[in-house]
Amino acid sequence: MDAHDWDERYAAHDLVWSAEPNQFVAELVGALSPGSAIDVAAGEGRNAIWMVEQGWTVTAADYSAVAVDRARALGDQRLGDRASSLTTVVADATLALPGGPGAYDLALFSYLQLPASMMREALAAAIEAVRIGGHVIVVGHAGRNLEQGHGGPSDRAVLYDPDEVLTAVADRPVEVESSQIRVRRVETEQGPREALDTVVVLRRV
Ligand SMILES: C[S@@+](CC[C@H](N)C(=O)[O-])C[C@H]1O[C@@H](n2cnc3c(N)ncnc32)[C@H](O)[C@@H]1O
Repeated sequence: MDAHDWDERYAAHDLVWSAEPNQFVAELVGALSPGSAIDVAAGEGRNAIWMVEQGWTVTAADYSAVAVDRARALGDQRLGDRASSLTTVVADATLALPGGPGAYDLALFSYLQLPASMMREALAAAIEAVRIGGHVIVVGHAGRNLEQGHGGPSDRAVLYDPDEVLTAVADRPVEVESSQIRVRRVETEQGPREALDTVVVLRRV
């Protein structure tokens, strides 16, 4: 899918994703001291808005202008006086990120599913955008979810297991703080199912 496809997908629905943050984002970001963050491919801003509510100053970036407009509107509705702590911007995750090198304490990826070469570029851009000592958190549909888990994209080329993330950043200035497959419980009309997510935490060195 390209930016136009995502625009159409967002325009066709009131809210494509949930209004609540992803559970692993809430767990991992909740353990950090609030600072400045970029939510890479933020979509409608569910994680970015929640992070502002936790005291973070957040740039929510996505290449879908429709998603960015929606994140802005939802942020304005929910954040009140804190709305100015949310910046929304149209930006391609595979290019240098807004803010410049070392601008953020945290770069977050939440279900940005790209082919390996593009994901490698996006990870490099995010690492560049984080200050030394800051974090890059990657949450996404795992490769093995295709065979063993529920939901997510059906194209293996845009899925990644933890070792694939680590290979993509092997020559970058980061240390691995944690790297796991995590189970996410999903309620479906057929009953509860389990999705397998890749969850990786990197620290910029
Ligand atoms: C599955 S959604 C996840 C949205 C959000 N991170 C969340 O967890 O709710 C994937 C998002 O990635 C965005 N995206 C895909 N490729 C991108 C790229 N190259 N640059 C910026 N955004 C991209 C899409 O527009 C879409 O909003």
